[in-house]
Amino acid sequence: MELCRLLEFNEKGDDRGKLVIVEGKKDVPFEIKRLFYIYGSDSDVVRGKHANRDSEFVLINVSGTSKVMVTDGNEKQIVELTKPRQGVYLPKMVWKEMYDFSPDSVLLVLASTHYDCGEYIRDYDEYLKLK
Ligand code: TYD
Repeated sequence: MELCRLLEFNEKGDDRGKLVIVEGKKDVPFEIKRLFYIYGSDSDVVRGKHANRDSEFVLINVSGTSKVMVTDGNEKQIVELTKPRQGVYLPKMVWKEMYDFSPDSVLLVLASTHYDCGEYIRDYDEYLKLK
């Protein structure tokens, strides 16, 4: 199964600066129903540590940098997010952890669903059993 996919978004640049465009079902493989962003996390913090039964996500460091570890219990991949025009797509049912946040990190997350705490699997052993 696919653990994650790197995405490179269109960037329009001119003498006024840069503009990145992300459209649902076009630049990301789902309709965007929700977005949230994570900032102010210390560099030793590990966030995420869960899998989602129903949600797909795209993570973008619109400022600063962070790392994303994705695993299905067998394979493991680590992605470094270093550019605002770069994203990582995470399918349903992968275990993810976000860490190594730079002080200026703003991690934007696009989601395919509205929030439902019931679809989160927050226990790694339970995740492995469900897989
Ligand atoms: P959490 O899932 O722990 O964040 P992360 O995985 O990014 O470290 O979420 C932190 C809190 O915010 C938790 O109480 C649930 C709540 N929350 C929402 O209410 N809606 C949302 O869309 C998200 C992502 C979290």
